[in-house]
Amino acid sequence: MKRASTIAELYDHFAKMHLSPTGFIPTMGALHDGHISLVNTAVSSCPIVVVSIFVNPAQFNNKEDFKNYPRTIDKDLDLLGKVMRENDIIFIPGVHEIYPKEDNRIFRFGNLDKVMEGLHRPNHFNGVAQVVSRLFDIVKPDMAFFGQKDFQQLTIIKELVRQTGNVVKIIGCPIIRESDGLAMSSRNQLLEPDIRKKAGIIFRTISEAAAMTANNEITIINEFVKNSINRVDGFTIEYFEIVDDVELIPLVSKSDVRKGMKYFGCIAVKAGKIRLIDNIEISFH
Ligand code: PAJ
Repeated sequence: MKRASTIAELYDHFAKMHLSPTGFIPTMGALHDGHISLVNTAVSSCPIVVVSIFVNPAQFNNKEDFKNYPRTIDKDLDLLGKVMRENDIIFIPGVHEIYPKEDNRIFRFGNLDKVMEGLHRPNHFNGVAQVVSRLFDIVKPDMAFFGQKDFQQLTIIKELVRQTGNVVKIIGCPIIRESDGLAMSSRNQLLEPDIRKKAGIIFRTISEAAAMTANNEITIINEFVKNSINRVDGFTIEYFEIVDDVELIPLVSKSDVRKGMKYFGCIAVKAGKIRLIDNIEISFH
């Protein structure tokens, strides 16, 4: 694989290759099998794939979180070396390459960034939209691959693309999990060992919730999830909402379920000092 740390180097590689479609996977590094599954999917459908690694300061609403975010560049390069091909490119820009001047753009996503992560992490999605739109402008991909792990982010990126009229096709890829069901995340390596041992409770809980829909109202399911997490020492629920995947409107009652819509149960949990998110599709039919 090739490596570029400036836009000029990136374009130099592109110019030599004339390959299309271009597949793109933006990441913040500290790569794991969840990221690698996106790369594999891209490699199987695009003759040239670009993976970016950039820990985007604009999307961290908490300075400590930005500072503590794991950075494992050597391991990342090893992992990518196993799955990327000769012509694929890993793009590791510096902050000035991405933000040559301050990015003051404000994106409007209606309800999409007012709920769940948007409520708990002010300005987070504006920072995501800034960096992803900038990266799309630089890389000009035909297809971009995002994980369903970050369900709300995926919905917002689709809306961003719709608003900007970009022709990039957004592909959502399934959540990759550890053997106990914990969704893989760069933040998992920050979990204290005793917390990590118990973290399978998050997926077990939302899986049970998904199995409760036939016989229970939404309020009962929400209550079950809250209690199931909060009774584990060191774990506190931040939110659990069952939302549709287009407008992200939280369901209050089963009578509000709309035909033809998909629903997802989305959860955020404080596990020790670390915040984890996960989701599962919830079927009402
Ligand atoms: P990051 O957390 O590094 O994730 C990069 C991509 O990997 C995202 O699309 C995310 O949803 C996906 N991903 C993470 N864990 C996954 C898992 N267990 N299974 C499947 N996919 C998974 O998300 C970001 O970075 C940033 O917000 C970014 C989009 C790069 C903008 O800075």
